[in-house]
Amino acid sequence: MSKSVLIIGGSSHIAQAIAEQCHQQGAQVNIISRQPAPKHSAYIWQQDALQSEGSCQHSVEQALQQQPDTVFICNGVLHDDLGMPEKTIRQLSSEQLLQRLHSNVVIPAQYLRALFRYLTRSPEVKVLVLSAKVGSITDNHLGGWYSYRMSKAALNMLVKNFSLEVARLNPSACIVSVHPGTTDTPLSEPFQSNLAQGQLQTAAQTAQRLLKVRDGLKPEISGALLNWDGRVLPF
Ligand SMILES: NC(=O)c1ccc[n+]([C@@H]2O[C@H](COP(=O)([O-])OP(=O)(O)OC[C@H]3O[C@@H](n4cnc5c(N)ncnc54)[C@H](OP(=O)(O)O)[C@@H]3O)[C@@H](O)[C@H]2O)c1
Repeated sequence: MSKSVLIIGGSSHIAQAIAEQCHQQGAQVNIISRQPAPKHSAYIWQQDALQSEGSCQHSVEQALQQQPDTVFICNGVLHDDLGMPEKTIRQLSSEQLLQRLHSNVVIPAQYLRALFRYLTRSPEVKVLVLSAKVGSITDNHLGGWYSYRMSKAALNMLVKNFSLEVARLNPSACIVSVHPGTTDTPLSEPFQSNLAQGQLQTAAQTAQRLLKVRDGLKPEISGALLNWDGRVLPF
């Protein structure tokens, strides 16, 4: 169990459920989000609307005053005003691809860089970066969703690379990417109609699963892509 948790991309529905459960378990909860803090928030909340290199560094420095033992990075975009995920390469636009790479890779990378020094000095610290199974190249049997798949595959490489660099200085750290499972949030909402019975989880169920994964993390597994049940997924 955590004493202090930092949640980046804290407006995500999964992030909010993680925050609530950590708070109920007595942990100090720090949030970094592009969104402003809601009124009467129980958490320490830093708005980082700019998400520039400097603002990420500043937000992280503020949050690290609470010395988190666990960090979740929840940022991820599948669809927005730019478009829905591509069914075919004919729908691919450079603008949409660059946007997905920005929100799903560049932003997590900026925060990981800002966290680097702290992670190399914090015994048994854990970082869980929310990725997606569709970012697994080996597991891709359906195709489609070009920009999202490519960005999550790149995110998995980022996490693997980063875990190796941190491990040289702090072998007790554990840094993983995690597929949260299909969860009822605005991100999955347009794609929920064809799901198998029982596949769709509430954000609260997903948070419970992710906190169980967190509790079981060991340094030996650092760098892996994990499923919501803790199983290692192929890259
Ligand atoms: N829901 C699912 O079924 C599902 C399945 C597989 C993987 N995931 C992954 O789980 C994570 C959380 O998903 P969710 O379903 O909770 O999503 P959500 O409720 O739609 O939340 C969106 C998240 O993305 C961030 N975000 C939105 N636009 C952004 C932008 N332009 N630049 C940077 N960050 C941006 C938000 O951060 P702010 O707080 O800063 O706004 C927030 O953390 C994502 O990484 C997603 O890919 C979800």
